[in-house]
Amino acid sequence: MADNTNQEHKALWGGRFEGHPERFTQEFGASLDVDKRIWEDDIVGSIAHSHMLAKQHVISEEDMEAIVAGLKRIAGSIERGEFVYDVDDEDIHMAIERALTEQIGEAGGRLHTGRSRNDQVATDMHHCARRMACSCARSLLEMRQTLIDVAEANFGVVMPGYTHLQKAQPVLLSHHLLAYYWMFSRDFKRFMDAYDAADELVLGSAALAGTTYPLDRTAVADELGFSRISENSLDAVSNRDYLLDLVYACAVTSMHLSRLCEEIVLWSSDEFGFIRLDDAYSTGSSIMPQKKNPDFAELVRGKTGRVYGDLVGLLTVMKSLPLAYDKDMQEDKEGVFDAVDTVCDCLRCTEGMVRTMHVCEDRMRAGAQGGFMAATDLADYLVGKGMPFRQAHEVVGELVLKCEKEGRTLQSLSAEELGRQAPEFGSDAPAAVDIDAIVARRNTAGGTGHEAVRKQLARARERQEDDRRSLDAIDAG
Ligand code: ARG
Repeated sequence: MADNTNQEHKALWGGRFEGHPERFTQEFGASLDVDKRIWEDDIVGSIAHSHMLAKQHVISEEDMEAIVAGLKRIAGSIERGEFVYDVDDEDIHMAIERALTEQIGEAGGRLHTGRSRNDQVATDMHHCARRMACSCARSLLEMRQTLIDVAEANFGVVMPGYTHLQKAQPVLLSHHLLAYYWMFSRDFKRFMDAYDAADELVLGSAALAGTTYPLDRTAVADELGFSRISENSLDAVSNRDYLLDLVYACAVTSMHLSRLCEEIVLWSSDEFGFIRLDDAYSTGSSIMPQKKNPDFAELVRGKTGRVYGDLVGLLTVMKSLPLAYDKDMQEDKEGVFDAVDTVCDCLRCTEGMVRTMHVCEDRMRAGAQGGFMAATDLADYLVGKGMPFRQAHEVVGELVLKCEKEGRTLQSLSAEELGRQAPEFGSDAPAAVDIDAIVARRNTAGGTGHEAVRKQLARARERQEDDRRSLDAIDAG
């Protein structure tokens, strides 16, 4: 019978084992392919840990210096792509520690004093989650800036507003775009909250119960830039809430992107014709020569499914796990990385799509003239002349029916025709159905009137500056 065991392999934890690991289970249990990505977090964490161990006289200064120099050499070789991962390395923590011990001998074996991979991996992931939250937030800022720019460049363009995807009332295109600006601003805050959840030092919790060594956890937190230390070692090593917060923020952002992209798909169709996508953000068909497809908008819409999958996956991994660390948790990383990468790519793609799209102002305006969207305003006009709203609703309803039968718009009705329907209609009645006037009148705070949208734009720009400043401060710190 073929021997499937790995005779060569001596794991860093191999002391109490007599037999050799089976090759398949060894590979099955490994996470190196995925957690390679946190090598830098692992190295800075180890450097901070060894600094503190020396300061607390747990290891000697010489050993600490050898460890730090060795870790820096390893960092250099990983960066240059020269680091040789051993097929037997279970995860990035083992790979780095093995390489360190090969390089510097006994001192390397002292690095893991007072530490477990359980608090080590949690520390690395907190460190990495902060960075990932910042890059998502940065991409969101760019998306938001583009929405402001396009809203500003197209100020005054009128389009139909919808409910039930049926024409409802005319709105400014800027107002419609800014609606997404505020969604993405809330997303930004969600990422900042995810950052805050990750901003906690776990190291010093050891395997689950803390350690007997006189560790100075605050010193490590300071060196790694964490603003606080965890309160309970059992909770700390088994907490993945901060990753859930991050993936949830990704999921909500994806949902917002999918709504925007859905509108881009609709708007670029021949039926709407509200926008034309730049060639860089469209594709052709291999059979139909005339086609220009909004593939990327569709793809962003579709990627939402996978980000939701990442969220549900992690929630399910964490469900019912007994305290403290369980190997199930090794499954946390892939989905988190996937969600973050996907959302950053989707933001980048959608930002470019919106920045470069051509707005077909005439089509939007024509769309806003149709669908009898002035009906509410015409009824309000009659109310202004003293008619009860219910009656006004009835009168305008009859006018809509008349126009529909004759294939006309409300704007085409003359003052005389209106007067025949109800004597309350005066010579100023046609102005009540003017599309620009209808929009311009809606100046309640947050409304689509030109004045209100101007104020909204100013507030959006302010918010942009505030958020940019807080993100810069985090990045600088
Ligand atoms: N690769 C492991 C993970 O990502 C590291 C922690 C392993 N700890 C353990 N006790 N097996 O979760």
